[in-house]
Amino acid sequence: MKRNRRSKSRISEIEETDIIVEEDTIAVTELMPLGGMANDNMRTIADMTEQFTYSIDPILRMYNAAMSATTARLEIIKDEFHYRNLRCPIHHIDTRLKSAGSILGKLEKKNLDLTLSAACNNIYDIAGVRIVCPYIKDVYLIRDRILAQDDLHILEIKDYIEKPKKNGYRSLHIIIRIPVYFMNKKQFVPVELQIRTLAMDLWASLEHDIRYKSINKDVDVDFAGELFQCSELIYQAEEKMEAMNEVLENH
Ligand code: GTP
Ligand code: MG
Repeated sequence: MKRNRRSKSRISEIEETDIIVEEDTIAVTELMPLGGMANDNMRTIADMTEQFTYSIDPILRMYNAAMSATTARLEIIKDEFHYRNLRCPIHHIDTRLKSAGSILGKLEKKNLDLTLSAACNNIYDIAGVRIVCPYIKDVYLIRDRILAQDDLHILEIKDYIEKPKKNGYRSLHIIIRIPVYFMNKKQFVPVELQIRTLAMDLWASLEHDIRYKSINKDVDVDFAGELFQCSELIYQAEEKMEAMNEVLENH
């Protein structure tokens, strides 16, 4: 927590003109609705669905704002390419906000306190933005455009294209913190970016579907080897098609 931090716990006490800057942590209790929970224990809250929704609501809205701020920046990049009459490096953008239930599930899985503070300060994919690009070079173009935005804080970069996961998963992950002004506070809210090509997205979507089905149906088959093979095949195909595009773009 950095400068300008005030110890005001109730929203109503914050004067309209005050902007409080939070740099490293998310001030959860200060965002909780008036008369909210005495503590922010998620298990207690989850048991009382109504209260829980009430307590987590402003926090999810803040993450939603971070997601919108992120997509706005990506839309600006798209518009620049349209204006320049150039092939757009972004095919489409998907967003998703983690549900309260799956936030709780992740806290349990990671053995963390079941509190909103623990969630906000340890789970970095509450807000997720997936940028799907036509070609691999576009993924790195988008990465560079993101890294060039100097008001974003970069928390983590994982390059699963350079070094794919053992199962064949490929994608570039960047966790950013984007400044969001919400309820008279400026907070740097984490957003997980997954930048990948259409081909990588095809594999990841189908792999997710197959994995999900095999868990739910409890069938005794192991497709790991085949899924890895598919990843290799898809990669070979996309490299070939990228090479064709390269010839044409450089012509
Ligand atoms: P957490 O961030 O704690 O969830 O774990 P981590 O840091 O090891 O996750 P990572 O950054 O590697 O991946 C986060 C997200 O990427 C997941 O929530 C998925 O959306 C996606 N992802 C990662 N691995 C796979 C995979 O093998 N298959 C598919 N379909 N998606 C994956
Ligand atoms: Mg992660």
